[in-house]
Amino acid sequence: MEKREQLYEGKAKKVFATDDPNLVIVSYKDDATAFDGLKKGTITGKGSINNRMTNFLMKKLEAAGVPTHLVEELSDRDTLVKKVSIVPLEVIIRNVSAGSFSKKYGVPEGIVFDAPTIEFSYKNDDLHDPLLNAYHAVALKLATWEEIELIKKYAFAVNDFLKAEMLACGVTLVDFKLEFGKTAEGQIVLADEISPDTCRFWDVKTNEKLDKDRFRRDLGNVEGAYHEMMKRLGLAE
Ligand code: TMP
Repeated sequence: MEKREQLYEGKAKKVFATDDPNLVIVSYKDDATAFDGLKKGTITGKGSINNRMTNFLMKKLEAAGVPTHLVEELSDRDTLVKKVSIVPLEVIIRNVSAGSFSKKYGVPEGIVFDAPTIEFSYKNDDLHDPLLNAYHAVALKLATWEEIELIKKYAFAVNDFLKAEMLACGVTLVDFKLEFGKTAEGQIVLADEISPDTCRFWDVKTNEKLDKDRFRRDLGNVEGAYHEMMKRLGLAE
């Protein structure tokens, strides 16, 4: 499948048309941003790592019963996916306090929750992705109640799978962000990516951060952390 015209360029990926109106190609970039694009940089090799890690995990999620947009990995950075309209909600699951949760509620990072939490934010950089609840999302016509129920079910299923998968390679799944899309037939599927850009991964023993927080917080060895996650998953030497 060949890339045709560019349909969209986001902060971390580009999307290209194909000759099939129901399929598009996502192309992962090395560009990294934080704080709604305010901080900009490059993480060398990130595009390839995030592409391969996302596809590896989405394949397993499909097998575990979570529908995804994945069709076929085309190359290091490019993947053929179903064309979807993205539901403009960022769906965040947390198992351990960190990041904006710690800041907002005034608690230290690292508190292990008895049960995971879920939250939604409105995917809108100009508004700084404001937090909203399901009633707000329905009022704003971002999704229907039925779609939100399905998204919640899939998000918790992703958490169950991903938590176990990470624990098996010595990584604590602290939190992560998912995005869902709607296909031409109206099916809700997992879209976007699952990578160190969109998850917090901590080493089980040392709590060393193995994710994009190293870039957000200028902790150094950003590339090393992404590569370490690939090694842990058996996707690199
Ligand atoms: P937060 O603690 O900053 O709200 O982030 C929660 C999770 O969501 C964390 O794993 C990082 C991820 N995330 C994104 O993927 N994109 C974003 O724009 C933000 C703010 C967080």
